[in-house]
Amino acid sequence: MSKRIGARLRGASLALLAAGAAAQAARGTNAAPHLESHDGRTALIVDGAPFLVLGAQANNSSNYPAVLGKVWPALDDMHANTLEIPVAWEQIEPVEGRFDFTYVDTLLAQAREHGKHLVLLWFGTWKNTSPSYAPEWVKFDDKRFPRMVDRDGKTSYCLSPFGDETLAADRKAFVALMTHLAQVDAARHTVILMQVENEVGTYGLVRDFGAKAQAAFERPVPAAVLARQPSPVRRAATGTWHEVYGDYADEYFHAWAIASYIEQVASAGRDAFPLPMYVNNALRDAVEPLAPWKNNFASGGPTYDVIGIYKAAAPHIDIAAPDLYNPASAQIDATLAKFQRPDNPLWVPEMSHAPGYGRVVYAVLGRGSLGIAPFGIDYTTYTNFPLGAKESAGPAIVEPFAASYAVFASMDRPWARWAFEGRTHGVAEGDDRKDQTVALGPWTATVSFQEWQFGDKSWPNHPAEPPPGTERPSGGVAIAQLGPDEFVVTGQHARVRIASTKPQGKGAMFARVEEGHFDAAGQWVMERNWNGDQTDWGLNFTASPVILKVRMGRY
Ligand code: DGJ
Repeated sequence: MSKRIGARLRGASLALLAAGAAAQAARGTNAAPHLESHDGRTALIVDGAPFLVLGAQANNSSNYPAVLGKVWPALDDMHANTLEIPVAWEQIEPVEGRFDFTYVDTLLAQAREHGKHLVLLWFGTWKNTSPSYAPEWVKFDDKRFPRMVDRDGKTSYCLSPFGDETLAADRKAFVALMTHLAQVDAARHTVILMQVENEVGTYGLVRDFGAKAQAAFERPVPAAVLARQPSPVRRAATGTWHEVYGDYADEYFHAWAIASYIEQVASAGRDAFPLPMYVNNALRDAVEPLAPWKNNFASGGPTYDVIGIYKAAAPHIDIAAPDLYNPASAQIDATLAKFQRPDNPLWVPEMSHAPGYGRVVYAVLGRGSLGIAPFGIDYTTYTNFPLGAKESAGPAIVEPFAASYAVFASMDRPWARWAFEGRTHGVAEGDDRKDQTVALGPWTATVSFQEWQFGDKSWPNHPAEPPPGTERPSGGVAIAQLGPDEFVVTGQHARVRIASTKPQGKGAMFARVEEGHFDAAGQWVMERNWNGDQTDWGLNFTASPVILKVRMGRY
C-alpha cells in the first residue's frame, strides 16, 4: 500500500473514531459491549452499533507493562483497532488471595491512549491445555489441585476438570478480574470481549479416569447435552455416555467436563461484569471424515464436532471459536463453515501471521465474522515460525495484513452493519488457484487469480509469468451487496467479473465503478470513476486494495 493511501486511510480511521465517539455521546449508548442476534446472524455491539474487530494478538509473554511499548506500534502499523492479550492468573494472584491489577490498569490506560479496544485472554487453569499460567501455588500442589490420571492411574500434565478446589480458585481469580474491570471500565468499553482459558482440552489422554470422573462417566448423559449434541453413531437415545455416544463417549464426556468447568468460571465472571465471552480451539482436521479421537488433537476442546456439548454445558460462553493455523485452504474453508452456525457466530480470535494468511482476512470478514486477529503481532522479535511467519523483526510481521486492515478500518462500522444484515461475502484464493463464484441475487461474481490488470489468459500472446506477488496464493475479495444492483467491492491480487444471472437473455454492463472511501460520517466519497481499460478486463485488484462502489445495469 502506498504511503499516501496509508496516511489517507489512517486519517479517515481517526476521523471515524472521533465521529464514533461523537455519535455515541449523541445516542447516549452506554450499554456494555454485548452480542445481538437476528435471523441467525450475530453482531458485537460496541457503543451502540455493530463493531468489526480488526484484531491483533500479541505474543504470549508480551503481557507485562515493560513490553507494551513494543506492542502498540505494531498494531498502529497494521491498522488494527483491537489488541488481544493475555491476563495470566499467575500475574494477578501470585500469592493466594492477594490480587494485583497493576498490569491490567496499565494495559487499559495505554489501550485508551492508543485508541484501541481490548480482548482479554484469561490464561487460567488451561493454556494450550497446560497449567503453565496458573500460579505456582496451584501448579505444584497436586493434592489440592489434582491432575488427570489415565486408566492405569498415571498422572497427566493436565489439571483435572473435576478438581473442586481448582475450579473454586480459578473462578475466584476470574471474578476478581471481572469485578475490577467493572470498576475501571464499565463506563469506557475498552474491553469488548473475554476469552475464558486458552485452547483447552488434553493431549495424549482422551479423558480423566480419576474416581470422580469415572463415576460421572457412568452416569446418564445430561438431558441438555442430549438435546444439543446428536450422536455420530446410531446408539441408544438416552443412557450413559458410552450407551449414547459409543466410541465417541470418552472425548464427548471430556468435552462436557471441561465445558461444565468453564461454565462455572464464565457465569460467575459475567455476574460480576457481563461482557461477552468465548472459548478458542486448537482445531481437529475439518476435512477428513469424522472419527473417534485417536490421539490426533486435544480431546475435550471445543472442536467442531462437540460445539453442541459446549452450548449445552456452557451457556455463558457465547462462541466456540477456531484458531486458524493449518494453511491448507480446504481446511480453512471447512473450518469456517463448521464453526459458523446460527447458534455459534463466527469469530476468528487467532490466525497465523504467515504471509499466506493475508488473503484469509477477506474470506473471514466477508463471511460476516465478528472479526479476526492474526497471532504474534508485536515488535518483540519473537516469531512462532513455522506456524507463523519466518520474519520476526519489525513491520514485515504486519505487512500481510496492513493493507487490507487499512481498507476495512476505513469502513469498519458500515461493514459490521452490512455483515449483521447478511449482505457480505468473502473469498480467499484456494490452493488450487481456481476461479470462485459468489451468488449475489440476480448477479454472479466470478473471482479469478494470477491475472494481470489487462487482457485475458486465453490470449495466445498472454504473458506466461504471473504478476509479481501472486506466485503463491495471495488473492482475496470481499463484497457487500448494498442493493439489488449495487455493491461495495474490495480485494487484493484478484480479478472480479460480475455477470447477470437473472433475468436470462439480457445484456449487462457496469453502470458505475467508483473508487473512493467512506468519510467520518460513513458517507461514500467518490474519488474517480473506473472505465475503459480499468473495467474492460473486470475489476482488477493489485497488492494495494482499494474500495470500489459498483452499480450494474442491464440492456
Ligand atoms: C495457539 C495458542 O492459543 C497461542 O497462545 C500460541 O501458543 C500459538 N498457538 C502458537 O504460537
